[in-house]
Amino acid sequence: MTAALLVQDLNKKIGKRQIIKDISFEVNEGEVFGFLGPNGAGKTTTIRMLVGLIKPTSGTILIGGKDIRKNFTEAMKSLGCIVENPEFYPFLTGWENLAYFARMDKTIPPERLHEVAELVGMTARVHDRVSTYSLGMRQRLGIAQALLSNPKLLILDEPTNGLDPSGIREMRDFIRFLAKDQRISVLVSSHLLSEIQLLCDRVAIMTQGEIIATDDVHRLLSDREKARWRFEPMAKGKAILESMTEVEERDGALYTPFHADKLPVWNSRVVRAGVQVLEMQKITPSLEDLFIELTGGQGID
Ligand SMILES: Nc1ncnc2c1ncn2[C@@H]1O[C@H](COP(=O)(O)OP(=O)(O)O)[C@@H](O)[C@H]1O
Ligand SMILES: [Mg+2]
Repeated sequence: MTAALLVQDLNKKIGKRQIIKDISFEVNEGEVFGFLGPNGAGKTTTIRMLVGLIKPTSGTILIGGKDIRKNFTEAMKSLGCIVENPEFYPFLTGWENLAYFARMDKTIPPERLHEVAELVGMTARVHDRVSTYSLGMRQRLGIAQALLSNPKLLILDEPTNGLDPSGIREMRDFIRFLAKDQRISVLVSSHLLSEIQLLCDRVAIMTQGEIIATDDVHRLLSDREKARWRFEPMAKGKAILESMTEVEERDGALYTPFHADKLPVWNSRVVRAGVQVLEMQKITPSLEDLFIELTGGQGID
């Protein structure tokens, strides 16, 4: 199956500075792919190349199997995007703004306006002026516009920036709906770990213009699960655990690897020695822990 997006050995030099360094990744059909990195990592620069706003210094970009260098118009047909904040005419209604964009592309049938307004859940407000919309509604109108041409791939640069918590949740549900229900592949960038964790199937972690890891989000995290323990008395429990596995002590608790099959054995050994188990739970690392691990302690803001 053709990947929705294939990026190979992509580089961007601006002046003497190498901003993007040889990155490669692909986005599959119906998947939400995250682009995670701190501010200045190079997410927006990469996205600007993907959507044809700036030219790569070298490398290949295929959208739906079409090379954007050799076949730009064809490649762009399967792409919808929002880079930076979408711009609308505030004194026109949402509908009028959509109609304005639809007129610029003769392949968009008139009924598509109804479809996209419904897809983004805006039918109730679509005839109100954009100046009365919340930021979340403007973002959704932006996505409606991006969906007009029925793209297979949607690229969104930090789509939840500036939204309040309920707006963020709505946007997240909506992006997942587009991927799972409408089979649209979505590439989203974010500097927020929690966001990628909740939203994406796979993630590429980017720092200083390089991708340092690409993986399935859940696998990336589950390989690094730990068990957290607290005992009374602590020292005795710790000694028993240490006789069976690696133990790390911090913040008044003990951490061991999480092995579902061994945990009951470890637990009963401790209990039989007369130690009380005050706590035993599974700890999933945050992507932040992971980032620190991958970058050798540099962390992420
Ligand atoms: N036109 C440009 N000229 C020079 N440097 C740039 C230009 N655009 C971006 N950069 C630099 O490239 C790096 C990556 O920026 P950007 O892609 O915006 O990162 P992100 O979106 O991950 O925050 C930053 O250090 C930024 O200063
Ligand atoms: Mg950016």
